[in-house]
Amino acid sequence: MQVTITINGQPVTRDVEPRKLLVHFIRETPGLTGTHWGCDTSNCGACIVHLDGRAVKSCTVLAAMADGHEVRTVEGLETDGRLDPIQEGFHENHALHCGFCTPGMMMAGRALLDEMAQEGRVPTDHEIRTAISGGICRCTGYQNIVAAVRWAAEREAQTTPQEV
Ligand code: FES
Ligand code: FES
Repeated sequence: MQVTITINGQPVTRDVEPRKLLVHFIRETPGLTGTHWGCDTSNCGACIVHLDGRAVKSCTVLAAMADGHEVRTVEGLETDGRLDPIQEGFHENHALHCGFCTPGMMMAGRALLDEMAQEGRVPTDHEIRTAISGGICRCTGYQNIVAAVRWAAEREAQTTPQEV
């Protein structure tokens, strides 16, 4: 069957088997291997992307289900050569070691910040931990990932009026 999925603003059309997972559709698109495939059990979270603005594990979505929808991957965070605050936050807070979980953690964090922006506030540490709880990191102990998301939230709050 033919599906068209808009990935980071670019429509990608391909004939796929109905069983094709979104994570594989994305990774088979040239230049988009930042979305990782880390398990067969929907547990690791390395495959998290945004589907119509919501964080989803792309190994739990069929490509056919995403036909006609918008996907954002970790490669879509950067804008005109500028890192997204969530990317800066990971850099500034040493929030990665091997980096395998990092794309999924960033996309989970970005989705939380987008949701918080609509509410006009920054997330609590508990909300950050809940948002990234669908991902597993074998390296960092999570503390610096939480710090990175908090750093990005505070950075964005400096440039956008927020309610306290
Ligand atoms: S690849 Fe592990 S949760 Fe999707
Ligand atoms: S940085 Fe290695 S798994 Fe998270």
